[in-house]
Amino acid sequence: MQILKLGGSVITKKHGYMQVDSASIARLSHEIAKVWHSGTRDFIIVHGAGSFGHGPVLKYKINDGILAEKQKAGYAATHAACAKLSGFLVDALVKESVPAISIPPCAIITQANKRIAEFNTGIVSHYLKSGFLPILYGDMVPDKKLIGSVCSGDQIVAYLGKNAKRIVIGTNVDGVLANGKIVPLITKRNFAAIRRHLRSSSAPDVTGGMEGKIKELLNVRKPIYIANARKSGRIAALLLGKKTLCTEIKF
Ligand SMILES: Nc1ncnc2c1ncn2[C@@H]1O[C@H](COP(=O)(O)OP(=O)(O)OP(=O)(O)O)[C@@H](O)[C@H]1O
Ligand SMILES: [Mg+2]
Repeated sequence: MQILKLGGSVITKKHGYMQVDSASIARLSHEIAKVWHSGTRDFIIVHGAGSFGHGPVLKYKINDGILAEKQKAGYAATHAACAKLSGFLVDALVKESVPAISIPPCAIITQANKRIAEFNTGIVSHYLKSGFLPILYGDMVPDKKLIGSVCSGDQIVAYLGKNAKRIVIGTNVDGVLANGKIVPLITKRNFAAIRRHLRSSSAPDVTGGMEGKIKELLNVRKPIYIANARKSGRIAALLLGKKTLCTEIKF
């Protein structure tokens, strides 16, 4: 199985508030559909929340869990926004005849203090095995300690990534940058030097931008590729096992 992460920075206008990037979703869905129809179907998609998640989480102040009764409506509104975004991606893929099924993480994941504690992956595997394209996303999920909390798409990728053969992370930059240049390969040897170049995002991002992403992915001992999903052909190349401009992480 491969995991394709589509960043909220790719499918939404991340500086806005709940603004979808329909043109980017349509272009990407066409690219993914070509891969699908060529016969490569061994992947799932996890997408970020972008301006449908980070904005509402800040608005309702639920980044540290639910501390007051009235925040439950904020939790519900944020989940609804993330699910709505997922619907836009599903619509675009179905239009390309790809059987994409959005599975709400809030129905199959439980966290404890913002970390995944239980993940009922059965339904995801079932759909994958029967020839569907399962789609998960960054969402609000129930939390044993905090009533409810944010579960980033990156955390879902890291959890499921342990059983993946390859992880392709599509974002809005060409890879991990250090002094303005793409780092082609990150390994144990150069990680300490690269680490100090990692920052959050210039757009609102409650889960730490590139720094948060790499932190999540550090313990996944599988080949990881970070590439620009806004540039035509890069995601398709990686899903097909071909080379393209990106950062590879090999720990
Ligand atoms: N060293 C770095 N190299 C590349 N990008 C970096 C670096 N440090 C910080 N960033 C920021 O991280 C951003 C990518 O992470 P971000 O979390 O915003 O995207 P995403 O995961 O695609 O979106 P989402 O979290 O909504 O799914 C880049 O747009 C850039 O602004
Ligand atoms: Mg992010």
